[in-house]
Amino acid sequence: MLGILDSGVGGLSVWKELKKLSPNSGVLYFADNARVPYGNLTRDKIFIYSKESISHLIDLGATSIAIACHTISTTTGPLLKHSTQIPILDIASHSIPLLTPLNRIGIIGTKATISSGYYQRALGEKIINAIACPHLVPMIENGEVDMALIKASLEGIDPTIEALFLACTHFPLIKEAIQILFPHIPLIDPAISFAKSLLPLASAAPDEFYVTKDASHFYKSATIFCEEKKVAFPFLIKSLYSPLIS
Ligand code: DGL
Repeated sequence: MLGILDSGVGGLSVWKELKKLSPNSGVLYFADNARVPYGNLTRDKIFIYSKESISHLIDLGATSIAIACHTISTTTGPLLKHSTQIPILDIASHSIPLLTPLNRIGIIGTKATISSGYYQRALGEKIINAIACPHLVPMIENGEVDMALIKASLEGIDPTIEALFLACTHFPLIKEAIQILFPHIPLIDPAISFAKSLLPLASAAPDEFYVTKDASHFYKSATIFCEEKKVAFPFLIKSLYSPLIS
């Protein structure tokens, strides 16, 4: 079975697209919501926590893993791939070919993603603007859409960019709010195309959701961001693991 990994509800932006493409396909979704946000952590911590989550997913029966998190992908994606026995696909390397045809790109992501320099290295001078938005992931985890906070977080965006790349899987969940603030800038959400690439790995089985902390909190935010898109959220969330917080 395919395992989808994120620190919280962000990976649901990928899961939702998968469900739209194939409502009967199922995955194992793992959210390390005890330690979200990963975007403010060091690379070492992100690696240790992600490795732990991957081990849980393998124990739960995952035979391949999709990292639906730019923070994990851009900081430790290659290391995780080398140190794991099963195939790992990641949203960051999937995104590069979507961006290369463009010439003036703005990107928004977590602190860790932006300071990793991953997209800046891959796309060079095409990246006009790279902005870290550390307050948006906690807001989305709480199921909130605070326009004033979103506006303040995106203040530095250059209005002359050709497109704005959502380099955090949480951000497509507030895509409409971002688009209201920047009506003339196309938003690039790699979740749609990443979900398409994952489709052959999904199984004809019900989804299973696992979180490391509060299942009811996850459920509340997840329903807020999924039901408005008319994607049903019919699951039982299991909070099975108590990760070692260090
Ligand atoms: N969804 C994660 C990403 O794509 C958010 C990370 C966080 O936990 O800060 O970067």
